[in-house]
Amino acid sequence: MLMKATVSGSDMKTGGIALHNLQKRYGSAIAVDDVSLSVSPGEFISLLGPSGSGKTTTLMMIAGFELPDSGQVLLDEKDITRLPPHRRELGVIFQNYALFPHMTVAENVAYPLRMRRLAKAEIESRVRRILDQVHLSVLASRYPHQMSGGQQQRVAIARALVFDPPVLLLDEPLGALDKKLREHLRNEIKTLHREVGKTMIYVTHDQDEALAMSDRVAVMHEGRIRQISAPKDIYRRPADLFVAGFVGEVNLVPVKLKSGMVHGPGGENLPAPAWHDADRDATLCVRPEHLHLETSPAGFGIRGRISGMTFVGDATILEFRSETGLQLLSKVLNVSAKTIPEVGDPCVASWAANDATILTE
Ligand SMILES: Nc1ncnc2c1ncn2[C@@H]1O[C@H](COP(=O)(O)OP(=O)(O)OP(=O)(O)O)[C@@H](O)[C@H]1O
Ligand SMILES: [Mg+2]
Repeated sequence: MLMKATVSGSDMKTGGIALHNLQKRYGSAIAVDDVSLSVSPGEFISLLGPSGSGKTTTLMMIAGFELPDSGQVLLDEKDITRLPPHRRELGVIFQNYALFPHMTVAENVAYPLRMRRLAKAEIESRVRRILDQVHLSVLASRYPHQMSGGQQQRVAIARALVFDPPVLLLDEPLGALDKKLREHLRNEIKTLHREVGKTMIYVTHDQDEALAMSDRVAVMHEGRIRQISAPKDIYRRPADLFVAGFVGEVNLVPVKLKSGMVHGPGGENLPAPAWHDADRDATLCVRPEHLHLETSPAGFGIRGRISGMTFVGDATILEFRSETGLQLLSKVLNVSAKTIPEVGDPCVASWAANDATILTE
């Protein structure tokens, strides 16, 4: 397997990762708490969460640089929990990608192959091929300090891919770069993912990045996975208040569920998905782009006034204040021929029933 000649020639059936009830403590603090996750061969999955939520610790247990206190890591159904990192054959790009400063690009990329004692000619041809793939061939003889952050990042990716691992683990690989370059490189990583067909586990705290790149996103908070879903479902159907608030902007409306109806803070009926459970207090979540402010309303909604507006280029953010003092945001795209209400105008806030999520935690 290791000697296989092509970088893109991995067997598509390898590279499945399963985590079973992983737990890791540092002293009395719990960094990773009962994390279970199953990643299919070739899948692109992101671990998304705020600082300190346990993303790096989880990745390091997959890579073998940290040992879990309990639980298991499986690669293609083989238990690798206690295998040292170099015997796992997983490509790793660390949070602070460390290139060897005294080695050229080509030497950096060749390093994992030299460690594996491949023949010189084989090393040269592999290095040439992977540098070509990440568009770095012309920089092969440069040193890290002679390159931009984005170029160094590509070297780190090449170095992690060169020995043809079935799985690539990436920890905030674009963290140090500016916004434009991040967007450019995230497209490159996506393209690379399509081309090489590797399983990729990608750690980030950037919601847009996770939603744009992933087949599925696992949202982490305080060492636990709160939701694992396709990006669209993470955004449209958040499982709890943390996920709703962490991924994108959201309006939260305190509601009472009563006899199958959803009542707002002023007792008004609100549009919401059908509710068949017991009566209780809950929170209704609706995204700003789904919240409409109508000056001549029809149907259910919350009465109030426009209390402010901000122009943000392609859209206008309207602030709404209800008669009971609830503040909500509405995002309206700035397309011509659309009249936007003015500050002070009375209006009703509403949304399509299907665009609302009811959370009862
Ligand atoms: N070696 C360590 N010793 C003690 N505590 C640690 C150690 N490594 C991590 N922690 C703690 O474990 C928790 C999870 O850390 P981790 O690095 O996994 O978070 P993260 O999600 O990667 O955060 P970030 O986005 O800031 O990189 C944090 O509270 C952190 O302080
Ligand atoms: Mg981290």
